[in-house]
Amino acid sequence: MRLLSGASDECEPEWCDSEDPLFILYTSGSTGKPKGVLHTVSGYMLYVATTFKLVFDYQPDDVYWCTADIGWITGHSYITYGPLANGATSVLFEGLPTYPDVSRMWEIVDKYQVTKFYTAPTAIRLLMKYGSEPVQKYNRESLKVLGTVGEPINPEAWQWYYSVVGEKRCPVVDTFWQTETGGHVVTLILSIVPAILNESGEELEGPCEGYLVFKQPWPGVMRTVYGNHQRFETTYFKKFPGYYVSGDGCRRDKDGYYWITGRMDDMLNVSGHLLSTAEVESALGEHAAVAEAAVVSRLHPVKGESLYCFVTLTDGVGFNRTLEAELKKQVREKIGAIATPDFIQNAPSLPKTRSGKIMRRVLRKIARNEQDLGDLSTLADSSVIEQLFLNRCCGAV
Ligand code: WTA
Repeated sequence: MRLLSGASDECEPEWCDSEDPLFILYTSGSTGKPKGVLHTVSGYMLYVATTFKLVFDYQPDDVYWCTADIGWITGHSYITYGPLANGATSVLFEGLPTYPDVSRMWEIVDKYQVTKFYTAPTAIRLLMKYGSEPVQKYNRESLKVLGTVGEPINPEAWQWYYSVVGEKRCPVVDTFWQTETGGHVVTLILSIVPAILNESGEELEGPCEGYLVFKQPWPGVMRTVYGNHQRFETTYFKKFPGYYVSGDGCRRDKDGYYWITGRMDDMLNVSGHLLSTAEVESALGEHAAVAEAAVVSRLHPVKGESLYCFVTLTDGVGFNRTLEAELKKQVREKIGAIATPDFIQNAPSLPKTRSGKIMRRVLRKIARNEQDLGDLSTLADSSVIEQLFLNRCCGAV
């Protein structure tokens, strides 16, 4: 109160150039070092304000709730900038969907009469496990639109979201986008002219599968990788000149719908957050006990993918629970809680090609216990495979 009494009612705006930097958000890069994605004042704000209004059909009497964390891009674009620029009534939530109980989300929907709800498939899969009773305890008649973001939504999760949460009344709007795109670029309502290319960069027609690219620029696209414009050009525009390359694979069906199939590079999608295998490997490699590390994804019923790490230890170091816990902690501290490995396997040696490249494709199969390893003709020493299968971590997650 004391401070308020001395404060002015006026808050002079700070005039900015439309291309002044607005924020930098770091996102994983397939070469390991995170990229500082730089967005600018006008283009980004205009884009998130417009996509927010159109994709969720925001109306003045709506109550909107996006469950994301404000620190990630979804929170920046669709909790902070997009809704605020529209003067939207929003619910801000800090907490867990399972605390104090698994009805938390629906209790909030009921309490604030939420009309537009935006969450991630990982949250849906988590809540689905507890069945429909915790959802049905609360009234969800206010809901009109259900949004999803962050990773492909699997059919079971879609059905549950549509039927149980939305009582088959609410359209489910899947929104594909990236930290780099600033806002939605493929949705059922609006899209930024997507195309699908084959490996030689030819645009495919009709039903097909290949690289998802965009043919036109849009206001919210990132302007640079902070401090490394060259990397910006190389990562997004070099592989297929004239297109923005998303890095994701995509399938188009006979009805013209786009199905995102996942990353085409060494990236993992854990609970809707992108991580690069290289980033986790270098965090593990910084531990004195680790000589070499290779990280692959293993499918996870809730998180979509989880981290399965193979570590070769330095001479004379033994593998035990304490070391395993230390390594998990190391990754967690270096990258963040989302990157905490689910499995760490002791790998006295790793499968490599004769030129010394780690064969991640083979490790991925071992992690998933798939015996059919495909073509192993480039493998330098095949005896390592048997050993790795024997030492697999098979616990359920
Ligand atoms: C994935 C999050 C399928 C994709 C907004 C993309 C999706 C990466 C979807 C970006 C979706 C995001 N369907 N996959 N609706 N939305 N992705 O930068 O692999 O954290 O490249 O941005 O998430 O993750 P980011």
